[in-house]
Amino acid sequence: MSRAAPRVAVLISGEGSNLQALLDAASAGTLGAEIAVVVSNRAAARGLVRARDAGVAARHLGGKDISREAYDDALASLLAEYSPDLLVLAGFMRIFSASFIARFAGRILNIHPSLLPAYPGLDTHRRALDAGEHWHGATVHFVTVELDAGPAALQYRLRVRAGDTVESLTARVHVGEHLILPRAVEWFVGGRLRLENDSVMLDGRRLSQPVIMEE
Ligand code: GRF
Repeated sequence: MSRAAPRVAVLISGEGSNLQALLDAASAGTLGAEIAVVVSNRAAARGLVRARDAGVAARHLGGKDISREAYDDALASLLAEYSPDLLVLAGFMRIFSASFIARFAGRILNIHPSLLPAYPGLDTHRRALDAGEHWHGATVHFVTVELDAGPAALQYRLRVRAGDTVESLTARVHVGEHLILPRAVEWFVGGRLRLENDSVMLDGRRLSQPVIMEE
């Protein structure tokens, strides 16, 4: 008897190019998972259109006038309809309550546009350029209560070039994000990647640093 494919929920707020990379990998059969639902906190997010075009449930859950806890409860109820094995934050611009993170402990991955622990938070490309960094990139990490500080699994690194701008870095980092995010999801749903006592385990071994891909 064949087992059902693992189920992934993707949370977005905007463009959804990382979501698209996941949808493409799922339809190519290389993700090892089904995208069960896409949730956006913004109704106008283009990612919702991408989900619908791929035949995936696309749900808007706005949260402007409610507390963080009330939002997270509503989100948990919505997600429960789809029984996800993994939540992927792909440009989701909200911060979770500690109880939401506890509910999905070890089962939330986020993609962040910097080489964490450098540059948590917003405006990462601008800050890396202003600081004269030689290296920049993106990180897939497990989500824990501290923002952008959970254990890192996979990083894409690129050398900052003379003449790079926020726009050029955004584009170059996106190329890498679209490689590492589907890879991390595939590893997780395939049972290769997991969080154990705040450490990232890959193929049964504790990673002392994230797996690195270079441009
Ligand atoms: C990405 O740069 C990701 O690292 C950050 O938000 C951006 C989302 O881009 N968390 P997109 O919506 O996937 O195009």
